[in-house]
Amino acid sequence: MTRTRIILIVIVGLFILIQLIPLNQTNPPIVQDAAAPADIKLILKTSCYDCHSNETKWPWYSRIAPGSFLITHDVVEGRKHLNFSEFSELDGFDSTDIADEMLDVLEAGEMPILPYLLLHPDASLSDSQTKALMGWAKSLASE
Ligand code: HEC
Repeated sequence: MTRTRIILIVIVGLFILIQLIPLNQTNPPIVQDAAAPADIKLILKTSCYDCHSNETKWPWYSRIAPGSFLITHDVVEGRKHLNFSEFSELDGFDSTDIADEMLDVLEAGEMPILPYLLLHPDASLSDSQTKALMGWAKSLASE
């Protein structure tokens, strides 16, 4: 066997092996869905829910390693920071904190994160959508 062929077989073997690593790609039950006016809800669902809710859409490519590791990591981390499916007064929920964080990331144009936007161009926020979300965040802070 030539050296190139051996290297190729090792690479293909590794690719197949990493597919067997289990992933935490679950959608836990919705505890309390964030209450928001319909237009705001639509923006949140289109641009934020894949990483910040328990209603993540897992496309076929999210199941294929090694990309699946990155996507799963983003969802797990995203939900930890902000979960619109667990949006309630319980468990130390502080609407002012969440509103402040939302205002920060929206002002800085940090969300949705860039790799996601490359695959979901429709999730990109227009200026008016950013403004609308910021208005909603401000209304949360004053609740
Ligand atoms: C592709 C996944 C993804 C999408 C889509 C996404 N986020 Fe995030 N978000 C993350 C991750 C990962 C983190 C945590 C790490 C970080 O701060 O970069 C995060 C963190 C946050 C935080 C907390 C920041 C902090 O300072 O702790 C807020 C607020 C937030 N996102 C808001 C949003 C909003 C609003 C949208 C929709 C407009 C959105 N995100 C869309 C992945 C995402």
